[in-house]
Parts: sequence; structure tokens; C-alpha cells
Amino acid sequence: MTMNKQAAIIGGGVIGGGWAARFLLNGWDVRISDPDPEAARKIEAVLTNARRALPTLSDVAMPAEGELTFCGSIADAAVGAALIVEAVPERLEIKHKVYAEIEAVNDTGLIASSTSGIMPSDLQAEMANPGRLIVAHPFNPVYLLPLVELVGGKATDPQHIETAKEIYTSLGMYPLHCRVEIEGFLSDRLQEALWREALWLLKDEVATAEEIDAAIAYGPGLRWAQMGTMQTFHLAGGEGGMRAMLAMFGPCLKWPWTKLTDVPELTDAFVEMVGEQCDTQAGDLSPRDLEVIRDDNLVTILRGLKRRNWGAGRVLNTYDARHLSDAATIDYSPFAP
Ligand SMILES: NC(=O)c1ccc[n+]([C@@H]2O[C@H](COP(=O)([O-])OP(=O)(O)OC[C@H]3O[C@@H](n4cnc5c(N)ncnc54)[C@H](O)[C@@H]3O)[C@@H](O)[C@H]2O)c1
Repeated sequence: MTMNKQAAIIGGGVIGGGWAARFLLNGWDVRISDPDPEAARKIEAVLTNARRALPTLSDVAMPAEGELTFCGSIADAAVGAALIVEAVPERLEIKHKVYAEIEAVNDTGLIASSTSGIMPSDLQAEMANPGRLIVAHPFNPVYLLPLVELVGGKATDPQHIETAKEIYTSLGMYPLHCRVEIEGFLSDRLQEALWREALWLLKDEVATAEEIDAAIAYGPGLRWAQMGTMQTFHLAGGEGGMRAMLAMFGPCLKWPWTKLTDVPELTDAFVEMVGEQCDTQAGDLSPRDLEVIRDDNLVTILRGLKRRNWGAGRVLNTYDARHLSDAATIDYSPFAP
């Protein structure tokens, strides 16, 4: 498929900046619009991180970096773009207004919302041409993590999901089509359940932020980097697999150990308590320092998975193969599951 490698990015915060890096380092030209006077500085900081980390994942030369242009308006960014990435704050009315401005100048480009959980049918409800809106939900840092959840709304033309799969695969990503439209999609429903429970543990003073994170990072988190919850528990059941696991621990689900959907009241005092514990946990390290550490750790983990040609590592090997003239000479079969 030939693509006009020109993306517009509307909103250049944490996610828009990450998208900009992912596209630019894959040879796309990017035009970006964000009213924040600090946007250019913030995006440059993300780009610095990305230029440092992303190329170290690839064993072949990546394309020449595309051109980045900051635009004064959504219209200037969106006009003529094959793909318009929306990454503005998670508020439906802001997103609706942005789509109206895009539609005023561009009636053919694919519009991909980065929303973490708003239903695409709600996003496209006021659009003149809603068939071209999809959700393409990424994960921070967007330039390193391969997963992008693709979700169509009631009015989405299914062909656009197929096009999106091709685009994101070409960017070295793993497009996961969430076939059923549901709030929070797949990953954030799972993450939200864990985060809610973590906040309760902290509020009830069962554990500190640091202890809660240790309970993941030194154990289950390492397993999750290469197998999800289902396959992990399939192995936890020994030779009996998941059936044995369900027989042993299934009844606990009904006790239950967790707080399910109750949410702790987010009072100022509680927010301050969580914030203070996270600051203590970070010690002298600023969020920017921690980003570099996180990126280096992710690269190390991903390269290990790449050697094993497993999970996210397979995605990276596929990406490299696409960039080699003679991809057929690579034999990944020893590690293929
Ligand atoms: N932060 C995450 O981990 C994460 C992960 C996946 C998806 N998302 C989703 O990505 C989207 C953006 O989230 P974020 O974390 O990058 O937020 P953010 O606050 O970091 O960035 C939002 C940016 O949008 C800009 N903006 C506001 N109104 C605008 C407008 N009318 N036109 C152009 N730009 C505008 C803001 O100035 C800001 O720079 C949200 O829908 C969020 O749910 C966030």
C-alpha cells in the first residue's frame, strides 16, 4: 500500500508528543497543532528521549527522519494530511470541537483518536463524515511500546480499521483490533482494576506507594511483559493448566479479596497523600530522569524479547524484516511459539 506519509497531530502533550516521535522517526512528515505556548519545548524533550531510545531497538537502519512543523491552527495542520491523530484532553466536548475544525479543511484523511476509553460512537456522533473516525489508543511512551488498540464506532467504515492496521504495523506497532466497542477498551479496563485496588491499599494504609509498586515490579510485572494474565495463570495451574488454577483459586474470586468497583473518594487530602508518597518513592529523580530510566529498561526488556522472538519481540523482528531488502533470509523459527 502506498501512503502519503504526512500526519497531522492535534494536541502535542504526553501522547501527541509520543506520536510525533513515532511518526517522525519512521520517516513521516508531521504537522502539529497545540495552543500551549510550551508545546514545542515539551515535544522537543519527548523527541530527545525518542531519538535516544527508539533506534536502539532496531537492528537495521531506520528511515530518514521526517520533517516536523508547528502550525498555528488545527486547519493548518490538518489540511492535506492522510492521517490526523487527535490527542487532545479526555473531554468529549473538546474532541467534538476539534473534529469540526478538521472536517472544515479535510474530508478524506483518516481521523484517529488517542482516547483512553471514550466510545468511538460518541466521538463520531456530531461528525459530517463519521465513517473515517477510529480510535487508535496507544501506550506511554508511544515511541517505544508497540501496542495500539484499534476500535471502530457504529458509523466507522471497517475498511479504515484495515488501513489503520497497515499504517501502525509499518510504524513497528502491534495493532490490536478491539472487536467489541466497550468503554476503556481492553487494556485500560484491566489497568483500571489494578489501579483502583492500588489506591485502596494506599488509602487504607495497608501499604505505601513504594510497597504497592514492588508487589508488581519484582514479580507479576515481569511475567506480564511476556505473557498476559490468562497464559500466566494457565502455567500457575501446573500440568492441569488453567482448569486446575480455576479449581484452586476460582472460589477466592467470590470471597472477594478486592474492592471491585468501589473507588476511594478523591479528596484533596487523599490526592496529596498519594502524590507525597510517589514523590518520596522517586527520591531525587525528576519525572524526566525517570523517563530515561524507564526507556532504557524498556529497551533492555524488548531486546531480550526480540532475541527470543516472543510477544512484543516478534513485532520488532517483523519491523526489521520489513526494512531489509532480503527479509526472507531471516529464520525466526527456533523461537516461534
Ligand atoms: N497520558 C497517557 O498515558 C495516555 C495514554 C493513552 C491515551 N491517552 C489519551 O491521549 C489524549 C491526550 O492525553 P495526554 O495525556 O497527552 O494529555 P496532555 O494534557 O498531556 O496533552 C493534551 C494536549 O492537548 C492540547 N490541547 C488542548 N486543547 C487543544 C485544542 N483545541 N487543539 C489542539 N491541542 C489542544 C493541550 O495544550 C495539551 O498539550 C487523551 O484522550 C488521553 O485519554 C493518554
